[in-house]
Amino acid sequence: MTIRVPFYRHDLGERELGAIAEVFRGPILTTGDVVTEFEKAFAAYLGRRHALAVTSCTGAMHMALLALNIGPGDEVITTPMTFIATAAAILEAGAKPVFVDVEPDTGNIDAKAVEAAITPRTKAILPVHLYGLLCDMRALRKVADAHGLAIVEDSAHCVEGIRDGVRPGALSDVACFSFYATKNLTCGEGGALVTDNSELLESLRMLRLHGMTKSAADRHREGYQHWDMKILGWKYNMDNIQAAILIPQLQRLVVKLVDRERLARRYNERLGRLNWLQIPAVPKDTVHARHLYPVWIDAALRDRMIKGLQERGVQTVVNYRAIHQTSYLRQELGYKDGAFPIAESIGDRAISLPFYPGMPDDYIDIVCDAVEQVAAEARS
Ligand SMILES: Cc1ncc(COP(=O)(O)O)c(C=O)c1O
Repeated sequence: MTIRVPFYRHDLGERELGAIAEVFRGPILTTGDVVTEFEKAFAAYLGRRHALAVTSCTGAMHMALLALNIGPGDEVITTPMTFIATAAAILEAGAKPVFVDVEPDTGNIDAKAVEAAITPRTKAILPVHLYGLLCDMRALRKVADAHGLAIVEDSAHCVEGIRDGVRPGALSDVACFSFYATKNLTCGEGGALVTDNSELLESLRMLRLHGMTKSAADRHREGYQHWDMKILGWKYNMDNIQAAILIPQLQRLVVKLVDRERLARRYNERLGRLNWLQIPAVPKDTVHARHLYPVWIDAALRDRMIKGLQERGVQTVVNYRAIHQTSYLRQELGYKDGAFPIAESIGDRAISLPFYPGMPDDYIDIVCDAVEQVAAEARS
């Protein structure tokens, strides 16, 4: 297949290479001062007290649940319209994911459905800010407060988002982020969490590195001292090389978001006039992080559209097919088709179009022309 329009292209370059070179000249490749510098800058960007850099968003969510003492016998309410990592993290913590349906216009978890799914075993809500649109965190906070629940945010798609004045991490116990290869902020693989809770941060810091009381950076700074293993932890610590790649990008996030918004508007202008295609809604008083540009089309046309676009050199992906319909989660959780009709319908209709800052404007025309051609062909 000849690719005319790639789905995504990163913009890492000389600044990041220079930052990596600096780490190579120093003594510590693993978690050290550069990670600390990134954590401070990331917490400041989001206006939170603490950030902890880890190896993935999946790991961050897993640790957050453990630090909140959520495990076997507990239920965590979440959405089936997400990447499988959301449910995997809950299962890795030993708890049970309980899915509820989503809002038909945004695909985000429906706060009313959350309230209806609460049982005596419910310990937390795990909302996902799908595509970069923050969930209605004020509504979710109210539900959580009424029932004494924790909130852990899956903010893999949403670093830059603001809704009703609320940023990720502002109304939750912990918000978790992904720096996976295609994310708005990336180091190939990586993640972070933010929290205002200093006690929780200390548990999370231990969980991040085998429950050890000293790290390699401590040894470098203070000389060797005997350390202890206090709890069973994991190996989720970010290294200085990953942090070096992230720091220069933080400064570019604002400019890149302006470009993402401009590209989204161009797509909206071209595609908004097609009455057979739905563009997910953006509520008022929202800064959308614009991680992805998805459209929802007729279920009967979706797979044909993917193939037709591919034949025309346009790469797409699907974010997401509803995850309760995957083989493993079906078997593990026992949900049947039809359990979450809105999420299932979005999952049958979703297609994400090429979208990344710096994407040439004429690519949008190539993509939209191809979308219209494939639809016309299907009708004829
Ligand atoms: C919604 C969502 N949650 C969680 C994750 C997992 O992130 P990571 O790959 O950093 O573990 C992803 C990654 O693509 C995601 O899109």
